[in-house]
Amino acid sequence: MKKTKVDMRGMSLLRLEDLTHDQMMYLIDLADTLKKQRRFDGNLLKGRHIALVFEKMSTRTRCAAAVAMADEGGRSEYLSATEIHLGKKESTSDTARVLGRMFDGIFFRGYEQKTVELLAEYSKVPVWNGLTDECHPTQALADLMTIRENFPRLQKVKVVYMGDGRNNVATSLMTACAMAGMEFVNCTPKALAPSLEMMKAKEKMARLNGGVVSMDHNPSTAVKNANVIYTDVWVSMGEESQHDRRMKLLKPYQVNMGLMKRTGNLESGKVIFLHCLPAFHDSNTELTAKTGALEVTDEVFEAPFSKVFDLAENRLHTIKALFVATLSRKVV
Ligand code: CP
Ligand code: NVA
Repeated sequence: MKKTKVDMRGMSLLRLEDLTHDQMMYLIDLADTLKKQRRFDGNLLKGRHIALVFEKMSTRTRCAAAVAMADEGGRSEYLSATEIHLGKKESTSDTARVLGRMFDGIFFRGYEQKTVELLAEYSKVPVWNGLTDECHPTQALADLMTIRENFPRLQKVKVVYMGDGRNNVATSLMTACAMAGMEFVNCTPKALAPSLEMMKAKEKMARLNGGVVSMDHNPSTAVKNANVIYTDVWVSMGEESQHDRRMKLLKPYQVNMGLMKRTGNLESGKVIFLHCLPAFHDSNTELTAKTGALEVTDEVFEAPFSKVFDLAENRLHTIKALFVATLSRKVV
């Protein structure tokens, strides 16, 4: 089927809700195409130069952005927030105006959503959110792409997110599923539930797109008939003081083989496991070597139905699609 082109040149992506349904699906279609035709000497971003302003650590998002630009003939400059004046000697709005005079776009990762909004307001160039405390929109694009690679008819898919239901990854995934008209269950303890206001908004968004968003505090009932079990770390960057409390709250939400079996879809191969990564599974870090698995066991993480590294790779293709759609000179 011929895919429809959408003109997104000059657009920022501060949160997923900035996109229309068509824009979101266009980015995923474009990511599919760029993945199939992977080029290392492309020219769609030739002459484009972007700043990667990162306050928090990153492996996938940072590398995906750098490789995406290089693959298509563009350039990127990594600016650790500890090495520039942002927010210390210089206000965000002043830094934004300087960067906007030198770069064609800014990819930001950090704490406050307000910072990425100020960068967009003052720089006058496209600004993309590479994760804030509030949301992780480029992750959600890769999530949808990976889900569709496994289940082409998104509207028939049930996604269950297990764990910290109000974190950046959970809420962006919930938004993506609502926008795509899918079934999404946020399975989380009451103490970590998104606000009632947010749940109502996402339930309504899903309904309008022919999908269903709901919340369930009980892992056994939530995962029934699930096609995708998704989890994330129990303690997000910047929330380290919550560590002990989270371990207690989230232990019943660990993704293990027992939980995967309760989907009822394991034997028929109709369920996959996803994690945005990095993940604490058995003995893979100094921490879990002592404590054992946290949010997911090795058995699940290493299983054939675990698509976590496909998802990690798809960060590259979706971020490249975003840059190409918003920065290239012609509509691709
Ligand atoms: N999933 C994700 O955003 O990974 P990084 O923190 O490594 O960028
Ligand atoms: N929720 C996690 C996602 C990391 C990609 C965090 O914010 O640390």
